[in-house]
Amino acid sequence: MKKLFIFLFALITTSFTASLAQNSISLNLNTSGAKETISRHIYGHFSEHLGRCIYDGFWVDENMNVPKQGRIRMDVVNALKKINIPNLRWPGGCFADEYHWRDGIGPREQRPKMVNTNWGGVTEDNSFGTHEFMELCELLNCEPYIAGNVGSGTVEEMAKWVEYFNFDGVSPMANLRKQNGHEKPWKVSFWGVGNESWGCGGNMTAEFYSDQYKRYATYARDYPGSPLKKIASGASDWNTNWTEVMMKNVPASQMWGLSLHYYTIPTGKWSKKGSATQFDEKEYFNTMKNCLAMDEIVKRHSAIMDKYDPEKKVALVVDEWGVWTDVEPGTNPGFLYQQNTMRDALIAGSTLNIFNNHCERVRVASLAQTINVLQALILTEKEKMLLTPTYHVFDLYKAHMDAKLIPVQFTSPDYTSGNDKIPAVNASASIDSKGVIHISLVNLDPSKKITVSSALEGVKWSRVEGQIVTSERFNDYNSFDNPAKVAPAKFNGASKKGSQLKAELPPLSVVMLELK
Ligand code: AHR
Repeated sequence: MKKLFIFLFALITTSFTASLAQNSISLNLNTSGAKETISRHIYGHFSEHLGRCIYDGFWVDENMNVPKQGRIRMDVVNALKKINIPNLRWPGGCFADEYHWRDGIGPREQRPKMVNTNWGGVTEDNSFGTHEFMELCELLNCEPYIAGNVGSGTVEEMAKWVEYFNFDGVSPMANLRKQNGHEKPWKVSFWGVGNESWGCGGNMTAEFYSDQYKRYATYARDYPGSPLKKIASGASDWNTNWTEVMMKNVPASQMWGLSLHYYTIPTGKWSKKGSATQFDEKEYFNTMKNCLAMDEIVKRHSAIMDKYDPEKKVALVVDEWGVWTDVEPGTNPGFLYQQNTMRDALIAGSTLNIFNNHCERVRVASLAQTINVLQALILTEKEKMLLTPTYHVFDLYKAHMDAKLIPVQFTSPDYTSGNDKIPAVNASASIDSKGVIHISLVNLDPSKKITVSSALEGVKWSRVEGQIVTSERFNDYNSFDNPAKVAPAKFNGASKKGSQLKAELPPLSVVMLELK
């Protein structure tokens, strides 16, 4: 009897300890290794002439009853200013390689119309062009990131656009800009040379594009006081050959950055991507697995870049990322309008952690897209506007902008589905110029609470504060009837015990801790 009791006691304590071990993490923060800066431009955004992103998003009817500056919607501008939007990419995407910038300047009523063949075949009236976009960036206090037309444009057309933006003197394009009401050059710096040149941007081979890149980039001039950061059109997903060819053929001195596009497709199939809101746990798991693949994708492309550019002069620019689902039922399939759930918040938190942890190479990124398209920050319906779960994560993570990355090590418990597993927790940490440490933690597990602790030796701090984005179900979302279903809240689950940090991450949560 006594033996049986001892056996049962041992069994219970072993499995209790095992389950505790499974649901707890010890974080090792290497504060002395905080050398690399997390560029604020990792937190960038993308606005294409697609669906209701520009028209009906940023740029609205002059009779719409919302606060406006001209036709620019100010509630949207103020929301983006709150998250310190660092840059905005424009005019595409695929649209960029069909866009002829001279159609979008001068008196609006005289601007020619065009068909937006990529996105729904709608008529583009060019009422939102260069001056309107630059005014938007000024209102947002963010840097413009222009994508130039390689696919259907010419070297001369791109060269003249740069001159129009950046030359401060007497020249045909500078004079035209002045004639159109802007005396001083804008000093644009981020300059994309084409977009997805392997696909909608011209269906080129990497070899052909690398030569084209050099032609276009040569004549996209650095005017006095306005050096360009030229960004080459890069690979999609796992296509490391594109990166290899570009790095081999284009010297680092001619290319500030090389782009990479990767979208999370819930089902992994472009033909039936999966609903934005109606999905079960299996599909949730697959989505998160596909999202976390970004880490390996970045590593593979970075490894090739390291071979040709060990000093890491060329930036990896992930200028399109996010979840891409089927469109909302009843909406135009060409408009890519999708809802945004707690799953999107977890995708945003996890991906931004990945980018932070690779900030030595990833120096710019753009979520696709800002308003009403794909993984949007903001949705609008006439006068109404709502902030998505993704927006709230960007609000939490803005603390990492321009801070120094603190390398973090830990072993995560698994989140399993059938025979498959992914790490339940991901994290990144930084220390800002005032010495404040921020730790962002994501718990993907939909049912397990996970306890995080860290010894934090050698770190001076007196208290911990936190914020959280969480919700009961992974497919909870903000609707126009219930716009605050998923909202940020104060996080009370963290404490200081001696020099130890302890935090309890609820299931499905994105947490930002601040150590003061
Ligand atoms: O973001 C939507 C589209 O996805 C972009 O226009 C294109 O670059 C990519 O294929």
